[in-house]
Amino acid sequence: MNHLVAPSILAADFANLQRDIELINNSDADWFHVDIMDGVFVPNISFGFPVVNAVKKHAKKPLDVHLMIVEPDRYLKEFRDAGASGMTVHYEVCPNLHRTVQHIKELGCRAGVALNPHTPVALLEDIIADLDMVLIMSVNPGFGGQRFIENTYKKLKDIKELSSKYKPNLLVEVDGGVDERNADDLIIAGANVLVAGNSVFSAADPLTAIANLKNPAAVSRS
Ligand code: DX5
Ligand code: ZN
Repeated sequence: MNHLVAPSILAADFANLQRDIELINNSDADWFHVDIMDGVFVPNISFGFPVVNAVKKHAKKPLDVHLMIVEPDRYLKEFRDAGASGMTVHYEVCPNLHRTVQHIKELGCRAGVALNPHTPVALLEDIIADLDMVLIMSVNPGFGGQRFIENTYKKLKDIKELSSKYKPNLLVEVDGGVDERNADDLIIAGANVLVAGNSVFSAADPLTAIANLKNPAAVSRS
């Protein structure tokens, strides 16, 4: 499949959020990546339902909601109602992960599970067939603009092995420190959804940055 690009609005200008949403609407991007942080699972707080509702009002592309929160089950319906097309929960905070994944699907959303950098891919063996997407964190969750962790490539190899065995059409999303320089290598390693915050919104020309993430082979050859 052709890979997808999901700019993270965490790096947008919140005082000009509608402008930045229109920018994504008019770009080659596929999804909006929406980071929800609770200050408990991760040492940062981002935003909640009123902001997601406001984004949904203007967004013309699906909302890919990344829940960096404890007890996500309590809020799944509210995020679906706020406009989520897909919801990704963290393995590290879901003691009844199978139930949580079924709940996301029953709500009519794409179900994803995220792994922190230290969480082995092998832990997903008995759930991977039920998942639509796995999100590999390539930084420790909580902040945009961090440095990419190189061990991500090893995890992509592991997830490729697991998915070819149990779930060939799995979406594999990489999140954190993704830019024009590593995008091509990530896709070759098996990623098919690239999240990018700072490398898009801090670029001199965000539309070109997104286009380059959509076509990274051309960039790395130039
Ligand atoms: C980090 C978030 C990321 C973040 C990515 O906890 O999950 O989605 O916004 O930002 P960059 O691309 O700047 O690393
Ligand atoms: Zn994210």
